Amino acid sequence: MSRRGSLRSDRYAKVKPQKLAHIVLRSRHFKESQRWYEQVLCAQSIYENSILTFMTYDDEHHRIGIVNVPSAAPRDIQSAGVEHFAFTYATLDELLATFVRLCEAGILPYWTINHGPTISMYYRDPDDNKVELQYDVFETAAEAQAFITGDAYAENFMGIIFDPDEMIARWERGEPLADLTKRPPLPEGMTPFDMARPNNPRATPR
Ligand SMILES: [Fe+2]
Repeated sequence: MSRRGSLRSDRYAKVKPQKLAHIVLRSRHFKESQRWYEQVLCAQSIYENSILTFMTYDDEHHRIGIVNVPSAAPRDIQSAGVEHFAFTYATLDELLATFVRLCEAGILPYWTINHGPTISMYYRDPDDNKVELQYDVFETAAEAQAFITGDAYAENFMGIIFDPDEMIARWERGEPLADLTKRPPLPEGMTPFDMARPNNPRATPR
């Protein structure tokens, strides 16, 4: 019997993947990248040899894989492919605490922006892959989707840049979460593109 013939007909229905499983990166800076992800995500390497490593930070067997390719071409900012990938923190407090911890380790974001649905901090890994650390402002996906399909997003799909140190100061003064995470309007005369920092250089000293 063919493999196709062994499947029940209802299996031909559209079936969604259960989850997004992992990302595997090709790295010119293998050890440095491994250390970077261990540090940024509080991940641990569950397997490594001289060619590859698998890392996880949760119940998945691996979330990040890194392949050691020192001869790989550097990332070209103009090339097609993955723009960035994102990791969500359970609370704003955890995101801000991670920002502080990484600052102390010399790892700085190149872009911090309140998108509206998320408070987001963007970093570049040692190969210049963009990594977003975020906090979901809304409690449900439906609320976030309502924001994205609403007037505020139509006017400004990018977000509003924020100063993380200022946010931390406000947080520590006890400002309500809803006030801290509410996206301000675009400043007079500015467009969403004025809030973009896609080509900012790496903020982390190497
Ligand atoms: Fe994102």
